[in-house]
Amino acid sequence: MSISNFQDIKKDFPIFSRKINGKNIIYLDSAATTQKPNEVINSISDYYKNYNSNIHRGIYSISIEATELYENARNTLAKFINANSSRELVFTRNATEAINLVANTWIPSNLKEGDSIILTEMEHHSNLVPWQIIAKKLKLNLKFIKIQTDGSLILDNLEELFKENAKFLSLTHVSNVLGTINPIKDIISKAHNHGITTLVDAAQSVPHMSVDVQTIDSDFFVFSGHKMLGPSGIGVLHTKKKILENMEPFLYGGDMISNVSLNDAQWNEIPWKFEAGTPNIVGAIGLGKAVDYLNNLGMSNVHKHEQELYSYAVEKFSDLKEFKIFGLENKNSTGCVMSFSYSDFHPHDIASILDGESIAVRAGHHCAQPLMEKLGVPATTRASFYVYNDESDIDKLFDGLQKVRSVLT
Ligand SMILES: Cc1ncc(COP(=O)(O)O)c(C=O)c1O
Repeated sequence: MSISNFQDIKKDFPIFSRKINGKNIIYLDSAATTQKPNEVINSISDYYKNYNSNIHRGIYSISIEATELYENARNTLAKFINANSSRELVFTRNATEAINLVANTWIPSNLKEGDSIILTEMEHHSNLVPWQIIAKKLKLNLKFIKIQTDGSLILDNLEELFKENAKFLSLTHVSNVLGTINPIKDIISKAHNHGITTLVDAAQSVPHMSVDVQTIDSDFFVFSGHKMLGPSGIGVLHTKKKILENMEPFLYGGDMISNVSLNDAQWNEIPWKFEAGTPNIVGAIGLGKAVDYLNNLGMSNVHKHEQELYSYAVEKFSDLKEFKIFGLENKNSTGCVMSFSYSDFHPHDIASILDGESIAVRAGHHCAQPLMEKLGVPATTRASFYVYNDESDIDKLFDGLQKVRSVLT
């Protein structure tokens, strides 16, 4: 499928029929969150119109149907990432909550003072701050895989890093700033050779490329629904069954128990023992529909489409003076994000002038301040692409950037 085959897609997304100041919305901030197709939006209203009830407890028809829709969504998600079983998938609020779940349950039961957690210098704050907190609490050390200027990880000294008391490794599959695809399969296999347990932050990979958790083989694997056409407030933690069965619950309350007396309680089976209280039922159902939509497009087509857009943008923007794309030299990139600097114009000025043209880009540190420091800038402007973007969006961004220069010089 080429760029042109994706061109009709915009009509599936009602937001693109909206105009701001008479201009079509050019949405280039999908790394932050994605727009939603009619299928997802309709599934939400359909649920509230026809099925609304609580799940796992009612013995009346609409509750049984709602439970089925919720659990079917889990099955759809499990197939999408090729999990061994849907019982390995816990619904969370988002990737951040899934990481916090692991940091607050698995880590305290398995690591002790002096042990190390390995991270990389390119992590989103969501895959950094939870480890900082638990490390302080349990007196653990944090160690970092460094990056080089092209945005790739320096992997020569991995064996060295993995030796001393390293017990846990958590790293991103794809950088939300540079789009770099990390060779996680290789890194995880080396970590496992040293008995290190692993987590992959797949918030920026699952939406953009086909992933197979059995091949990747990480012990934990997390992602967010809103970054892949699904509703906000729903995310996934995938964990190998044996690990999940032996983990303590994160939150306590209704639905996560099998039996409760006044002074004690026993836990439900996995994955429900990790889903305390009424979950985001409609969020899960909507996310299942988003996956159906992506499956229809084909994830290899999605990946190809984004790479074509990225190449088109790189070529087009090579005509702009003093325009620098970060991580351009790195060939192993999804093509879904393009972080750039433009002359000495401040990213916030760039973004607000573009907003005047109804072009949405992100300006700032992208929740990755240590990476910004490494790149030697306080902030960048980031355009990120998804299935509904096309060449005309990039042409508009190009025109918008010409306007930025004329306004700021
Ligand atoms: C790489 C990466 N990890 C984690 C997150 C956190 O995602 P959420 O805010 O949906 O929990 C993001 C969000 O931008 C991200 O890009």
